[in-house]
Parts: sequence; C-alpha cells; structure tokens
Amino acid sequence: MKYKTLKVNVQKRLGWITINRPKKLNALNRETLSELHHALAILEEDNKVRLLVIRGAGDTAFVAGADIRELAELSPDEGAAFAQQGNQQVFDYIEHYNKPVIAAVNGYALGGGLELAMACHLRVFADTTKVGMPETSLGLIPGYGGTQRLPQLVGRGRAMELLLTGDMIDAQRAYEIGLANAVCSPKELDTKVLELAAAILKNAPEAQQQLLAAVRAGYDPQTDGYIAENEGFGACFETDNFRQGTSAFLQKRKPKF
Ligand code: COA
Repeated sequence: MKYKTLKVNVQKRLGWITINRPKKLNALNRETLSELHHALAILEEDNKVRLLVIRGAGDTAFVAGADIRELAELSPDEGAAFAQQGNQQVFDYIEHYNKPVIAAVNGYALGGGLELAMACHLRVFADTTKVGMPETSLGLIPGYGGTQRLPQLVGRGRAMELLLTGDMIDAQRAYEIGLANAVCSPKELDTKVLELAAAILKNAPEAQQQLLAAVRAGYDPQTDGYIAENEGFGACFETDNFRQGTSAFLQKRKPKF
C-alpha cells in the first residue's frame, strides 16, 4: 500500500511505520492520522507481524504535534470532534493494539507527538530528543490523551509541571522520570529498538496479547484490572503458546514462538 505521509515496511516479524512529513516536522494532520489508522489496521491483521515500531522521518523530529494549521480554524464542536476522531483512529487504537508497539523517538516529540509516543507500549529515545506538552502556549489543552497518560507514566506532580509550564525536557530527564524506557545515540536508535524487540519476541505472543489487555484494563475506569487479569490468565491455558512454553520447559529446551 502506498501512502502520502507514511512509509510502511515489514521486516523479520517487525512492522515499521515511519511518519514522513519531515518538512513539517512530521506534524499530524488529518491525512496522516487517517493513513496511520489504515496502516495500523493492516499490520494488526498481518500474521507475519508480531511487533510494531513507530518513528519519524528525518533527524529533527519524531512528531512536532498535531498540525496547528488545521487546528487554528476549528469551532469548539469541531475541535472536540477532531480530537475524538484522532483518538479513535490512532491513539486509543494503539493503546488497544493486540501486539506490542514501540515508539522510536528521534528529536522533537511535542504535544500530539509525545501523546503518540505515550500511547505506544514502550518508548526508546535518541539522546537528541526533546519532549514537551506546549498546548497551553497555544491556548489549548492536550486532546489525544496527554492529560491522562502523562500522569500515569510519570506521576501527577511531574505531569502537572510539564503540562502547566509547557517546557521541554531532554531525553535523559525523560528517562529519569519514566517517560523513556531507554536512551541511546541517534545512530544506535534502530539497534536499541531491535534489541528491545528481540527481548519481547522470544516470549509467547498469545500470552503477550492477554498481558496487554490486562494491564490496559487497570487504567480503564470501566473495567477492573484484577478481573481482566484473571480472565486473561485463564484464556492462556487454551493457547498453543501455553502448550509450547510448558512442554519446552519440561523437556529442558527453548520454546519456539
Ligand atoms: N503543526 C504544523 N506545522 C508545524 C508544526 C505543527 N505542530 N511544527 C512544526 N511545523 C512546521 C513549521 O510551521 C515549519 O513549516 P514552514 O517551513 O512551512 O514554516 C516547519 O514545520 C519547520 O518548523 P520550524 O518551526 O521552522 O522549526 P524550528 O526548528 O525553528 O522549531 C519547533 C522547531 C518544534 C520548536 C517548532 O516547530 C514548534 O514549536 N512547533 C510546534 C510545536 C507545538 O506546539 N506542538 C503542539 C501542537 S498541539
């Protein structure tokens, strides 16, 4: 599939989505969000793909936010609908994805860009990365889950500081507060992502699917995480992965997932 604002490729069980508007610092416009939704849906159905990586084209930015040019003309109702649509298409979609998603962050991740990275399950930052939530400098608040996911990741006090000041922090600080899982040089970013992916891919995908759902359930006010965990735990027992994992252990060999 050809996209105007994305590059998508599949390699060795990994799906790579590159947001490709480098001249606009990969800002998320309607077209990009819609293409992202399409690519996410295709890769979710693709049995060859076990894990996704989302990254930004060029050396400057992962994503410098929602496209401010598009936002500037909206009415209150249109603004709310814009955010709701983006959440359904991309941000909540990623959070509910049935495969692990890693954000490979290289440069600015601001506003919607940081929200995109936070919707992913894991984040690896190049040390050139700068992140922030500058929405209030535009007279806005975050619309893609930032008021919820940032406090979940870094704690309410630190999140409040980032949200109220809109100031950027660097990759090292992001790592210290739990926003980044790992930091490396820009040259090492792909290698670091591949290492993390390999560490995940050695384990059972069917169990990981249940795991993603159980962890997510605990952050959803409509669901009880403990009940979801119990159901997921039970569901694992009827999977091929469970039979493979337990028999491999008992036969003193490595499982093949
Ligand atoms: N929406 C639309 N266009 C954006 C954008 C965004 N969020 N972020 C950057 N761009 C565009 C710029 O308008 C510029 O386009 P132009 O060349 O047609 O003028 C191009 O990307 C390059 O950005 P520029 O601002 O010239 O680069 P810089 O290196 O001087 O500054 C930033 C980089 C990231 C600090 C700056 O672009 C910025 O503050 N962006 C907005 C960040 C933001 O507020 N995001 C939250 C949105 S809700």
